Amino acid sequence: MAKLGTKEKYHAMTRDLMWEPKHFDMEKVYPLIEKEGIILKDPSRWEDPFRMAYNQYVKIQSEKDGIYHAVRNAFEANDGHAKVIDSRWYEGVKIFAVNVQPGEYQAHRLMAYIGRNIPIEAIRFATFNQAIDELRHAQIELKHYAHMSKQIDGLHNIPATSQNLWLNTVVKSFFDDALSAGPFEALMAISFAFEYVFTNILFLPFASSAGAVGDDNFAAVGKTVQSDESRHMALGMSALKMLLEEDERNVPIIQGWLDKWYWRGYRLFSVIAMLVDYYPRIRPISWKKAFETYVEEQVFNGLFKDLRKYGITLPKFAGDSIKEKEYYSHTVFRILDQYKMANPYRSFKLQEDDYEWLNNEYSKFSHFEPFIRRNEENVFANSSPGMPAVCSVCQLPAEFPNPDSPLELWTQYSEHNGKTYMTCSPGCKHVFDHEPDKYTQIWWPAEAYLSGEFGEDPIAGMFKYTGLSPEETGEHYSSREHAHWLEHRRHLGLDKKFF
Ligand SMILES: [Fe+2]
Ligand SMILES: [Fe+2]
Ligand SMILES: [Zn+2]
Repeated sequence: MAKLGTKEKYHAMTRDLMWEPKHFDMEKVYPLIEKEGIILKDPSRWEDPFRMAYNQYVKIQSEKDGIYHAVRNAFEANDGHAKVIDSRWYEGVKIFAVNVQPGEYQAHRLMAYIGRNIPIEAIRFATFNQAIDELRHAQIELKHYAHMSKQIDGLHNIPATSQNLWLNTVVKSFFDDALSAGPFEALMAISFAFEYVFTNILFLPFASSAGAVGDDNFAAVGKTVQSDESRHMALGMSALKMLLEEDERNVPIIQGWLDKWYWRGYRLFSVIAMLVDYYPRIRPISWKKAFETYVEEQVFNGLFKDLRKYGITLPKFAGDSIKEKEYYSHTVFRILDQYKMANPYRSFKLQEDDYEWLNNEYSKFSHFEPFIRRNEENVFANSSPGMPAVCSVCQLPAEFPNPDSPLELWTQYSEHNGKTYMTCSPGCKHVFDHEPDKYTQIWWPAEAYLSGEFGEDPIAGMFKYTGLSPEETGEHYSSREHAHWLEHRRHLGLDKKFF
């Protein structure tokens, strides 16, 4: 057999493995392909942007895994945990852990679902690779937490925490929403809105914060995960262009998905806004600047300009997210600080250098400062024993200020089948009103709490439910975890002064 060129070899190993069903109708084998109204003319001309065969993929990935585990081993062996500049950083790592890890696992299921239901060779092979990537991310993160759990609270019962914690219903509802959509919508939700628009902002600022505070282990997790993202983003981009170029009747459908999933993705990242601005004692970048660079410049002014030729406009609520950048991280910090007795991580008392940094970066921080200072005089003064009322779409507490009039709440109401549903913002209301039957199915923690799902003593029942204990919640600097960290440092002589 003549030797094949790279392109032929790639085709032989990937695309040419497909066949068209002869024994059953196409619609029986691929029942979802026409359900969303997407029109495909000749999608087989589309190429997987990375054109990699499986053996190359495995080789690259195993090298990445090897590098990560070497960093982790060194970190463990050298008491890396004791050497970060401030132990409160790990409370942020816990927030990341309980949210991102289940998301990675669900992204793995979702990619398999998309590949199964879209009979386009290029998309199939790219989603297959990505499904394995996401499983790798989920497992690497789990390995990271298993190690960290020897030093810190909150990560010792991941199965229960992952299943029942109210905080991660935010990320779970996002992925369940995509997994219960059609395959093309799911592809736009994840590959485009999540991967292309937002993953840079997820991994780059937070991983560089990890580097800045001295957590090399977490920085290495961020780096190895992010190294797969360029492939994921390329899939999102080429799938978007393919769908737009296949038929112009696809354009309004795609625009609707971009409107919805931009806002869903943006709300999902609210927690990242807070992580970037609050938890690292040294911050390489603020949420506001990261949003301006990665979303406003790269996505709105770059990509969406290119998409104009197809008739695509900016996501419907892009303007709202721009207005909210001044308030976003502070709002989320305030909310999570208020409900700190119900989370698997602790909030913390802001230090004077934190106030200084926040005031320098955000002119609007002054709206929040008095509240936060008052809260700190008595750390538990504002923690309520209840659960917050959450948005029916994004599942975040519906406590966002209206950025046009910050003394008012932005909360919105919709009626459906004689019941009133609450959403946190016009963006979420728009999503709800478009598919109310989907969002009325949500599990509402506040409703579960009031209806007795947590038992006679709701607080005790909640801890049983999440597998955590009250000592793992509250404020960081007064916690047993901080005391352990200080003791560990003393033991290593890290705080000794020689001059
Ligand atoms: Fe991932
Ligand atoms: Fe990804
Ligand atoms: Zn919402």
